[in-house]
Amino acid sequence: MKAEINKIELNFEDEGTGMPIIFLHGFPFDRHLWVDQIAVLKEHCRVITPDLRGFGDSSAPDEVYSMNQYAADIITLLDILSIEQAVVVGLSMGGYIALTIAEQYPERLLGLVFSNTHSAKDTAAKRQGRYNTAEKTNYDGIGFLVDDMLEKVLSENTLKTKPDVVEYVKQMMKRQRPSGVRGALKGMAERKDRTFILSEIQAPTMVIAGENDQLIPVIRAKAMAREIPHSHLEVISDAGHLSNLEQPELYNQVLLRFVDTFKTVESD
Ligand code: MLT
Repeated sequence: MKAEINKIELNFEDEGTGMPIIFLHGFPFDRHLWVDQIAVLKEHCRVITPDLRGFGDSSAPDEVYSMNQYAADIITLLDILSIEQAVVVGLSMGGYIALTIAEQYPERLLGLVFSNTHSAKDTAAKRQGRYNTAEKTNYDGIGFLVDDMLEKVLSENTLKTKPDVVEYVKQMMKRQRPSGVRGALKGMAERKDRTFILSEIQAPTMVIAGENDQLIPVIRAKAMAREIPHSHLEVISDAGHLSNLEQPELYNQVLLRFVDTFKTVESD
């Protein structure tokens, strides 16, 4: 499905009925990151999976995609769908966006899931690395980034023993457009530190970490969960940065448990 949103065409899927839950993918992926969650969660809730600006089948203008812009896109999508409040699930870059929503639109949150993400801004070295990568995509496309990231986003065990998952992730990265990749890289480089938001979050929150996430170690997720008032931490064993694809059953179990807590509240 497509919607005209903030001067771009945003592509999304909207499946199932009931409590709305919106999934924000990481970088450089698209809505297909959530394939295993959609299959199960749509039997329990209304599941919305957008292709974020620059990715999948959404428009990819060659400009900087700020986290504010991304958050505004998601809120406009909820408006179009007449959804007042939703559970927002964000993985990695999707988590940076979820945190921006928590900062700017807290009244739209039923609940929050921060998956394989953190609240800090980039170090100077990381920021420079992102600009260098963005520049390189002007000449080399994104093949070099796919090779580099594949090793980092999956755990060693997944790389060795789950060739289907490896291929799925590789193909998902390969089909993204350089302009979209550049826009998100620059937007992430320019994002601010949002750690100060954590202690102000009022929505029930779950923080998910991958036991073997090389990009965002469990210790950072623990620190995040400690700061958020109504939160708990779930560590997905034998999973890397893409814990939802690497261990879909475990990931879905914790998600369903979280979703069920809202149903209990509703029926009280
Ligand atoms: C992601 O998975 O979204 C990226 O690793 C986030 C980042 O590069 O900071």
